[in-house]
Amino acid sequence: MDKELLMEEARKIKERAYVPYSKFPVGAALLLKDGTVITGVNVENVSLGATNCAERTAIFTAVAQGYKKGDFKAIAVSGDTVDFLPPCSICRQVLAEFCSPDMPVYLTNEKKEILELTLKELLPFAFTDLEM
Ligand code: THU
Repeated sequence: MDKELLMEEARKIKERAYVPYSKFPVGAALLLKDGTVITGVNVENVSLGATNCAERTAIFTAVAQGYKKGDFKAIAVSGDTVDFLPPCSICRQVLAEFCSPDMPVYLTNEKKEILELTLKELLPFAFTDLEM
């Protein structure tokens, strides 16, 4: 699946976001190496810190379905922003737990342009498993 199609999945799923507080829907589409696409949306809570972002929803759903480190090929993120919407820092950390540093992360903007970055570009010098 190419990045335009993956982004389209992220764009479509946005309508399922639960965003009564921010009114800022986000959709994520995670491509697995076996070709499966798993989507996620942000799910907010009246206790705002309990909110889960779209990217983490997608990763956690994949893990719950049995996918493991090494199974992830790319992720696309879509929000209604003028500029490219990047994953928050907590989501970057969660992506770093399961995805390789060279995995593509696709961002988009209101012009529907796609910016392709690697996870390492988004999160350089990541805190991962360190030898002790
Ligand atoms: N949010 C995401 O779902 N993903 C991002 O990449 C950035 C932020 C959500 C969290 C919250 O529900 C809303 O957007 C506003 O911060």
